[in-house]
Amino acid sequence: MSTQKFAKIVSTGSYVPEKVLTNKDLSKLVDTTDEWITTRTGIKERRIATSEQSTSDLATQAAEKALSSASLDATDLDLIIVATITPNTFTPSTACYVQANLGAKNAVAFDISAACSGFIFAMDMARNFIENGTYDHVLIIGAEKLSTFVNWEDRNTCVLFGDGAGAAVISATNDSSSRILSSHIGSDGTYTDLLKIEGGGSACPITTSNVDDKLNTLSMQGKEIFKLAVHHMKTAANQVIEDANLTPSDIDWVIPHQANLRIIDAISSRLDIDSDKVFVNLDKYGNTSAAAVAIALDEAHRQGIEREQHVVLVAFGAGLTWGAAAIRW
Ligand code: UT7
Repeated sequence: MSTQKFAKIVSTGSYVPEKVLTNKDLSKLVDTTDEWITTRTGIKERRIATSEQSTSDLATQAAEKALSSASLDATDLDLIIVATITPNTFTPSTACYVQANLGAKNAVAFDISAACSGFIFAMDMARNFIENGTYDHVLIIGAEKLSTFVNWEDRNTCVLFGDGAGAAVISATNDSSSRILSSHIGSDGTYTDLLKIEGGGSACPITTSNVDDKLNTLSMQGKEIFKLAVHHMKTAANQVIEDANLTPSDIDWVIPHQANLRIIDAISSRLDIDSDKVFVNLDKYGNTSAAAVAIALDEAHRQGIEREQHVVLVAFGAGLTWGAAAIRW
């Protein structure tokens, strides 16, 4: 048997808070309708964490499920990566809180900030750490409590986002038949203004006046993002399909970032992949940023991804950032 190490997704897990916020509920907060939100986005409802729950709590719940289905102990983990734009604190990292919650005392833990592409960035890093022989068991998590950073008076954004977390355990294997075949990540920092939480960092420290101006909340130029999202997700997905020596007809599941059903439909037609192979759950959760692909992967896995089926993950987010991965399950 080959001594080359490959990276295999051995388990997944996810967690969403219990509280459901429907489009009808939102129509009582801002000037919107269920009809507008449904036709423009495909979203019907989203989950909202309690005031006691932080991002690390959501992440920990998802991680515990992934660990238990991997039949691994937390102490087996070498590395924990949390992808989030809504960390518990600027420092320490949310991954350190998760490490403590899990008792993963042998792991290195850190966060990455790549917005909605974060889970795929984490997967790409996990793959590299495993293939180069550094680590054997990596826990990657996408987790967000976006409800804290949404401007609940802005109908352009507040209808879009939700809270949740998804996780995967990625382990080293010598068996090349079931593994991450290829991954690709990218960024374009010339578009930093399109989607941001402006206040709270070193460039714009929090003051009473910029909180009054809602600079501590998310702002977005949706139309511009829409076009770029379609272009970059299509290109990234094609890239990993080609790098894996596959063609679109080989793909059994596409698990895209869950931001807007119209974006998902545009990608599936441009990739020439049947829409019934494209996984959608944004009607239930809205856009959960780094958690979206992670939760969708877990739900698709439980719905029945079969061994040796080909899965493509693809995402796009603030930065701009984008990423994709091709997996033989
Ligand atoms: O996850 C990271 C990446 N993010 C994304 O991928 C988001 C990408 N963008 C989008 O999904 C879409 O651009 C949105 C869903 C955000 C907006 O859809 P749109 O078709 O681009 O609408 P729009 O922003 O052009 O707005 C159209 C109209 C405007 O009214 P006027 O100016 O035509 O009178 C908006 O004021 O819809 C109005 N509008 C709303 N009306 C009812 C905006 N939000 C709402 C709302 N309810 N919630």
